[in-house]
Amino acid sequence: MQTANITNNDSLNVRLNANRNFGTLDFHAWVFHNCAFESGMDVLDVGCGNGKQVLEALRVLGSTGSVTALDISQDSVQQLRAATATASNLELVVADMREVGRLIVDTFRVKSYDLAQATYALFYGVEHVKILEAMRKSLKPQGRLLVTTPLGPNGLRQLVNRLGFPTPELAQIDNFGSNVLEPYFRSFFDQVDIQIRRNLLRLPSVEAVRELYRSTAYHFEEAEPALLRFVAAEIEARGFFAFEKNAYMIQGSNPSSV
Ligand SMILES: C[S@@+](CC[C@H](N)C(=O)[O-])C[C@H]1O[C@@H](n2cnc3c(N)ncnc32)[C@H](O)[C@@H]1O
Repeated sequence: MQTANITNNDSLNVRLNANRNFGTLDFHAWVFHNCAFESGMDVLDVGCGNGKQVLEALRVLGSTGSVTALDISQDSVQQLRAATATASNLELVVADMREVGRLIVDTFRVKSYDLAQATYALFYGVEHVKILEAMRKSLKPQGRLLVTTPLGPNGLRQLVNRLGFPTPELAQIDNFGSNVLEPYFRSFFDQVDIQIRRNLLRLPSVEAVRELYRSTAYHFEEAEPALLRFVAAEIEARGFFAFEKNAYMIQGSNPSSV
């Protein structure tokens, strides 16, 4: 039986902590650098979670500009609300990202953005192109659309599959990546920047792997014993268990011609 919940805030925190503690890539620094938040910017964050990018945006923007953000997880939004109670330039809603176009038109105070971004979230959205369309159409003339997403294969998930636990219900997530993003960005933007970052997670203990595995969307209780036996043998032999969990980023803009 699959037990993990992708929108669960505790699971999200476990995954974020594992990346921070055991990954070779400083993921958030990379994303922040490319978001290039600047004072006065209006930012849209789709699938904001508990606010990694929102908090950084607000820190840079101060009281200028605005952040408009949505996530389907009530827990994550609540946590972010508690952390940003004093920010009057933040509009934060619990919503399905498939509704982002309608929300921009009907609900959000700020309706056009210098940056519309989704970090590790758009692949959950099912109607990817509809969401991309809504984000793109909300851009100011020289605004940027930025999507960061996992670059498969995920080594831990591959191992779980190899151990006999395929994850077909994630097919719609698997079907999203450069195959959808590149044609879309190439159709609409004069300038398209693509980056790939390798990220090697090196976990030092069986407990750390168990906790991380339980926070994933491909967690199966039945797979745990075999996985953890494999992991224990790796740690015994090498001192750690390592797998790749790489990242892909695409950014589009229409800078005025020079
Ligand atoms: C991996 S987290 C990323 C959160 C944040 N952007 C970050 O980088 O820390 C993915 C987020 O997408 C949200 N999500 C999943 N499906 C969604 C949907 N249909 N609409 C809006 N948010 C969704 C989850 O609740 C989760 O907070």
